[in-house]
Amino acid sequence: MLEQIAFTTKSILEKTQNFNPEFGIILGTGLGGLVKEIDVKYSLPYEEIPNFPVSTVEGHSGKLIYGLLGGKRVMAMQGRFHFYEGYTMQQITFPVRVMKALGINTLCVSNASGGMNPAFKVGEIMIITDHINLFPTNPLIGKNVNELGPRFPDMSEAYKKEYVQLAQQIASEHAIEVKTGVYAGLTGPCFETPAEYRYLWRIGADCVGMSTVPEVIVAKHGGMNVFGISIITDLGVEGIVETVSHEEVQHIAKQQEPKMSLIVRELIKRIS
Ligand code: HPA
Repeated sequence: MLEQIAFTTKSILEKTQNFNPEFGIILGTGLGGLVKEIDVKYSLPYEEIPNFPVSTVEGHSGKLIYGLLGGKRVMAMQGRFHFYEGYTMQQITFPVRVMKALGINTLCVSNASGGMNPAFKVGEIMIITDHINLFPTNPLIGKNVNELGPRFPDMSEAYKKEYVQLAQQIASEHAIEVKTGVYAGLTGPCFETPAEYRYLWRIGADCVGMSTVPEVIVAKHGGMNVFGISIITDLGVEGIVETVSHEEVQHIAKQQEPKMSLIVRELIKRIS
């Protein structure tokens, strides 16, 4: 794994003239619009990056974008990899390992999710305060590579509290209503049954999605600070579970994306 990371990192450094990004961004379903706000310096299709899997889901175009956002050097993944696509946990999280090797210490992750919290509305933004890993596995299973992080990483502040507060402040300054809450990550690709949504709410999750948790675990293993933001694209609230489709998830995410992009841009601007 160390060799693969080193090889990929070297290839990216050659293609990007040692740009040295400070922030990593992973854009979820329908949330690629943030790229419009980036003053793009380099755009690398995943096919051109050695060891990178190629994204297969509709709505994920699969590019690594290098540029300036909020005056800071960022590397954004337009399109992420999901466990339900058949990749291993190591493949899904490989880009986060590469980010760390490139010197990135702060990761911003975004996603679309279904909300179980009855106080949530469709289209609302939720700042992620914590997560519950409901994947049947964990990207750190196997022999620990001590150079990459500790065997038993601390997860007591997976999502940095300071960033949560800063994001709330930014949202309030721009009159954007945001909620905070816990994201449950599971495999998909089915959306949940009413009984599953009810179960997820009862175990303490406010929303549910099919991503984010693996990447955040690996980011924390590498000692990175994490900010997470979710767009509630549908509701799995007890008594009002409606049908949900990927098209609808993409549509709502795209519609609400400018607000999320503003929060991420301002946050990056303000983090030193
Ligand atoms: N469940 C799981 N993943 C999702 C959902 C959902 O309701 N909405 C968007 N991603």
